[in-house]
Amino acid sequence: MTVEILWTPAESDALVHRDLSSTCCAVIDVLRATSAATAALHAGAAAVIPVKEVEEALSLKNVLGPDTLLCGERNRVLIPGFDFGNSPPDFALPRVVGKTLVHTTTNGTRALQACRHAASVLAVSFANLTVSSRRLAAAAANGQKIALICAGTFENFSLEDALCAGALCQMLGVSHAARHIWESADRPLLKALERTANGSALLAMGHSADVAWCSGVDTCPTACCLSVGSHNTHALVAARD
Ligand code: MLT
Repeated sequence: MTVEILWTPAESDALVHRDLSSTCCAVIDVLRATSAATAALHAGAAAVIPVKEVEEALSLKNVLGPDTLLCGERNRVLIPGFDFGNSPPDFALPRVVGKTLVHTTTNGTRALQACRHAASVLAVSFANLTVSSRRLAAAAANGQKIALICAGTFENFSLEDALCAGALCQMLGVSHAARHIWESADRPLLKALERTANGSALLAMGHSADVAWCSGVDTCPTACCLSVGSHNTHALVAARD
């Protein structure tokens, strides 16, 4: 199996210009966008719609109706007027059950948007690692190419996303630099995440519970797949194994 890894936001932005009609894209934003989407869908949210801009989220709520929940962050901070920020534990609460969430974040939802035309798209975190690796193996068995997209932080590479890509490579039996990064990382995983640039920034802002949540492996075994929903929106929905 050949696995391509995109390490930086500049590489994922360029996906809009690529033919991905036979590619399965796994978008990884461990801290915290894809962990939050995993939490919501595992808890029973109907859908999580990733959008790039705050204005897009606000107008989508007008179209979808007042029951829609707005969530996400800019510069790791809650967006004014939104229902909640980007803390995964907030997405795992009963208030999300049956609800459609519109999610906009600095990097994670930007990467999901950039590859939404791919043959298939998954949102991957450590929380749904094994179910996601099974989906990727199935996509490869069906002849799809595999792209692991590390969403990064602002315009930079994120070590925590590379670690998750490496863990996927290990599960898929693929030899790659990311796998080496994963296999030589600090243990427990929480320690490794706390030492990343993004992890320490979140700790400094008082979000240690989020970093701890994101370090849990297979805590929410729900695959998150992008599909075209009502009003032609691309929404992440749960696809249970
Ligand atoms: C992002 O999408 O850039 C993030 O998930 C940022 C964060 O919430 O820490």
